[in-house]
Amino acid sequence: MQLDSLEDPVAADGEVLVDIAYASVNPLDVWISHGSPGMAGANLPWIPGSEASGHVDGQPVLVRGGGLGFSRQGLFRDRASVPSDSVLQLPSGVDLRQVAGLAVVGITAWHALHTRGSVQPDDRVVVLGASGGVGSVAVQLAKAAGATVWGQTGSDANAAVITGDGADHVVVSGAEGLATRLADFAPTLVLDPLGGAYTDAVVTSLSNRGRLVVYGTSENEQVTFNMRQMYRKAVSIFGYSGILGSPADERQVLSTLLAMMADGSLRIRLGDVLPLEDADEAFSRILQRRAGGKLLLDPNA
Ligand SMILES: NC(=O)c1ccc[n+]([C@@H]2O[C@H](COP(=O)([O-])OP(=O)(O)OC[C@H]3O[C@@H](n4cnc5c(N)ncnc54)[C@H](OP(=O)(O)O)[C@@H]3O)[C@@H](O)[C@H]2O)c1
Repeated sequence: MQLDSLEDPVAADGEVLVDIAYASVNPLDVWISHGSPGMAGANLPWIPGSEASGHVDGQPVLVRGGGLGFSRQGLFRDRASVPSDSVLQLPSGVDLRQVAGLAVVGITAWHALHTRGSVQPDDRVVVLGASGGVGSVAVQLAKAAGATVWGQTGSDANAAVITGDGADHVVVSGAEGLATRLADFAPTLVLDPLGGAYTDAVVTSLSNRGRLVVYGTSENEQVTFNMRQMYRKAVSIFGYSGILGSPADERQVLSTLLAMMADGSLRIRLGDVLPLEDADEAFSRILQRRAGGKLLLDPNA
């Protein structure tokens, strides 16, 4: 990646100019820039970044959607022209760092748990990758829904932050041995952003009529599991893709999440705020599993 000086953007019909305060870094930005460009491949050179906070005419806003950072140039910049319906007005005084990292992880965790997972208070929920951006919000939302929640991490060092998000128990384990560690808990609902051998392990540990919601494959998109175990337990498997979301739906979920933030029942666990020229460093930290919370880029630093 390289930092360039560009012409000031001009707003086309149906667009507004946003002064970016903080752009959030997500694994999607890494995947697009590291060999899975998708629609970005037709728009090179590419500006990553699918969500940010900032100002429109001095008023605080959250920006997300409209293909930004996915099918059209993204938000790792100081000023951007964006579709009007990708802009959500915020109350003044809102924490622009918290809000910058809310949309992608919050909407994903919400739909994985509620829309796809149909979480209920009597659920025993396992959140894989619970130290990550989506995992952190998923733990908090599952607890808010009244469920019993176990979080998984591969690293002892990350256990405390998962407990800090409210998890009842933390399982420190890779894929090997995970099924055994989850056996007594017998989860009724598992959120899986990892794939690979993790999916096999959680299919083994799910209870009868358990639900598995898959929304990522950070470990491996190729998965093998025992079909007989799956059907004999009547396990249901759901996928979630944020790309299919509508602006109206996203606004509704975001207003719920912003209300939870305002009453203190939800927070984004933030990592470092880096200058724009350190976007590569942010990508490395995500790939090496040392993000330490949601990473933000400050284009004005
Ligand atoms: N479907 C959608 O619309 C959607 C939306 C958002 C995100 N996603 C996907 O969901 C996944 C998680 O996103 P995120 O923002 O939460 O990512 P993140 O902040 O990087 O966290 C993922 C966590 O998973 C663990 N992890 C990462 N790579 C791993 C590997 N190879 N093997 C085992 N564990 C690994 C790490 O935990 P430990 O190091 O503590 O073990 C890490 O903290 C990504 O694949 C992302 O692309 C999908």
